[in-house]
Amino acid sequence: MNKILKSNIKQDLIIIDEYEFTDIAAEFINSEVYMKLANEVHHGISRLKHSFKVAKATYHIAKSFGLDYRSATRAAFLHDFFFNDQMLGNINKMQKYKYHPQIALLNAQKYFYLNEKEIDGILNHMYPLTPNKPKTLESMTLNLVDKGVAISDHFSVAYEYTKKLTKKIQMLIICL
Ligand SMILES: [Fe+2]
Ligand SMILES: [Fe+2]
Repeated sequence: MNKILKSNIKQDLIIIDEYEFTDIAAEFINSEVYMKLANEVHHGISRLKHSFKVAKATYHIAKSFGLDYRSATRAAFLHDFFFNDQMLGNINKMQKYKYHPQIALLNAQKYFYLNEKEIDGILNHMYPLTPNKPKTLESMTLNLVDKGVAISDHFSVAYEYTKKLTKKIQMLIICL
């Protein structure tokens, strides 16, 4: 196969992936309640942005391993589908880590139809902070991707903060 044909096929596959991912995302984008996640702060960014990042990475990884990527991606979109005012009382960070998957699942089941894989993915995405291991490869993928994205979210927030601080220090030095 010549180089131009190979590169055309690669380009086509990227376009197909984009359409397919957008198709999975559509039901969430069209949900007024789901889009309210844009107002929730999560790892220093919005919970909506975090969920989209996790969903996109889960989609690509699950697809490349030949898994049920549609279920894995839907679970990824919904894994943090909770609102801070649903956390009753003065709970600490550890309690929030432990209980938010159950609240996310209740919300997800209220607004969307879920299969068993998606239920498992949402409920066990915080393992080992929650008691049960993810039961499927799709759930394990989501579990690992979420941790990776959470770390990268924290680093990007720290990076932006350092950049702003450096600019302020530079301005101070110039003014002195
Ligand atoms: Fe979570
Ligand atoms: Fe998450």
